[in-house]
Amino acid sequence: HGTSRVNERGHLEIGGVDTIELAKTYGTPLYVYDVALIRKRARAFKQTFEKHGLRAQVAYASKAFSAIAIVQLMAEEGLSLDVVSGGELYTALKAGFPVERIHFHGNNKSREELEMALRAGIGCIVVDNFYELSLLEQLSREFERKTPILLRVTPGIEAHTHDYILTGQEDSKFGFDLHNGQADEALKQALASPHLQVLGIHCHIGSQIFEATGFVLAAKKLFEKLAAWRDQYRFVAEVVNLGGGFGIRYTSEDDPLAPEQYVEEIIQEVKRDVEMFSLPMPEIWIEPGRSLVGDAGTTIYSIGSRKEVPNIRQYVAVDGGMSDNIRPALYEAKYEAVLANRVLDEKEEVVSIAGKCCESGDMLIWDLPLPKAEAGDYLAVFCTGAYGYAMANNYNRLPRPAVVFVENGEAQLVIRRETYEDLVRLDVPLKTKVNK
Ligand code: LLP
Repeated sequence: HGTSRVNERGHLEIGGVDTIELAKTYGTPLYVYDVALIRKRARAFKQTFEKHGLRAQVAYASKAFSAIAIVQLMAEEGLSLDVVSGGELYTALKAGFPVERIHFHGNNKSREELEMALRAGIGCIVVDNFYELSLLEQLSREFERKTPILLRVTPGIEAHTHDYILTGQEDSKFGFDLHNGQADEALKQALASPHLQVLGIHCHIGSQIFEATGFVLAAKKLFEKLAAWRDQYRFVAEVVNLGGGFGIRYTSEDDPLAPEQYVEEIIQEVKRDVEMFSLPMPEIWIEPGRSLVGDAGTTIYSIGSRKEVPNIRQYVAVDGGMSDNIRPALYEAKYEAVLANRVLDEKEEVVSIAGKCCESGDMLIWDLPLPKAEAGDYLAVFCTGAYGYAMANNYNRLPRPAVVFVENGEAQLVIRRETYEDLVRLDVPLKTKVNK
């Protein structure tokens, strides 16, 4: 997929660059991002709205992968940006992202984070709960601002996905409940404040969703509510944000829609609803994370040790693991992989790919058919672009890997590999001498 292909040497090539050369230059594990594929995905989302002549914002959910370079790339592509913490906001501001297109999410934004956002002149704050509503109202008054907000609601829709990442169902820590009066009360309070400007409503029903049905149902519920709010409060929403969650294909077993197909179905539903309730067409916002960067990322590992459990299993270990990709351990997520230096070699055995962390659960892939792999070979694991580096950690004091962008035959280092010195940089040694 994307610009990946096998070159004359039998090596995996991405963006016109040999991944084995990359591994030798930058070391492993290494995340390699196919920039052309990210641009293609971004444009497909935008063009779907343009085709229908609709005003829209496609906000990249930067939790999927936040770094200055990716934020710059999304700015270049004319996207908006969803941040969920002071850290992601800081990254966005450092990258020079247009602040009026940054949206701030989160179920427990701190006073400091909200102040930082207001000081920067943030485009929109997605208000999650009553505590935040009153805190933001108070801060906006102090800042003498009229802060643009969306109200995040929980429409009570279960998306077909892994339990851990369900966020749209009723029993959720996120948002105002749409049906028990919470959302109405939140709107009433927000409308009463001269320091808040309610742009509209937001919901996010989950992640790695394969069908459009959930989005269509959610849109319907939001518009029913908006019709009621117009009648009850004379409130007319300028913006309806339907969140992210569009699924991608990690393995051949996954069967998602094409990214823009989700948007197409959302648009059809919005058009029906707007007509049914005689509402003006709002601006539609979406917040894709995974579907913009997920399949554009590939991790290159070096293969090291092997262990045979006779008649049961061959373990093949790589130089990373749950420290750079925690998704298999956390969600039982599945991945596909090839030997990056011998992609076309015949598959001779079925092996299980182990990470190097001191934990039995640190397995990246079970039962992967591969050519006979040995130390010195390279493994390329596909679709690691979302929630890979973003959830990377220093368990076992493993330094976090480097990240390179490749495009048109050129590679650019965008995150340096951590050094051992980086690992102890924040450590404060004891003052007293322990030994001697
Ligand atoms: N908007 C909101 C409000 C969200 O909570 C999320 C993801 C997104 C947008 C982007 O969702 P996406 O398009 O990337 O599915 N760590 C998990 C995923 C957690 C998603 C949390 N919220 C994983 O590795 O699968």
